Amino acid sequence: MSKEKTHIHPIFDQLLQRSDKEELLKQRAVVLWLTGLSGSGKSTIAKGLEKHLHQQGYFTQVLDGDNIRSGINNNLGFSPEDRQENIRRIAEVAKLFLQAGTVTICSFVSPTHRIRNVARQIIGEQDFVEIFVHAPLEVCEERDVKGLYKKARAGVIKNFTGIGAPFEAPEKPALTIPTHTQSIEDSIQQIFDFIKNRISI
Ligand code: ADX
Repeated sequence: MSKEKTHIHPIFDQLLQRSDKEELLKQRAVVLWLTGLSGSGKSTIAKGLEKHLHQQGYFTQVLDGDNIRSGINNNLGFSPEDRQENIRRIAEVAKLFLQAGTVTICSFVSPTHRIRNVARQIIGEQDFVEIFVHAPLEVCEERDVKGLYKKARAGVIKNFTGIGAPFEAPEKPALTIPTHTQSIEDSIQQIFDFIKNRISI
């Protein structure tokens, strides 16, 4: 080997691998991608699921629409372009958590096939578990936890998902969680049962 070659030390040789971190944490990492209308129950489920996983000994991280939009993505709005950029950055962040061995729960409206495909491609098909948190629009509007549907109907918010902007239901989600017909506890249990084997070593 020439003298020059022996002086090359590629950083990849020195980096710890995802598998090293998974061994340490005694779990397999995954990204659970919760998509659904505003008010469908995504955040509630994400929070409850994280707590449940934590109690079961899993290391987790939640990335949630309202939090991310007040921080890293506070320069983005709700045009189709901004929503896509929102999701692109989030997917990149989720990928870092994935590489760190974390069970990562992402809770975003992510309203279109195109936008969710951006996330799927960045994270990788293998590690991307699409979960459709489903409640009919009428139910979400009736709940109107944040009062945003009322504003959307009044024309104050022009491009609100489900009213002035589209929501395309996932065609083949790994799991559908009907929050209008089952309790939060049952929804959390349903997701946990579905991923338990996948995240266990
Ligand atoms: S996404 O479309 O880009 O995926 P994201 O999940 O980050 O949306 O943010 C959705 C949250 O932002 C909603 O839960 C709601 O509280 C708020 N919001 C404000 N304006 C809108 C809007 N025009 N459409 C949807 N959600 C909105």
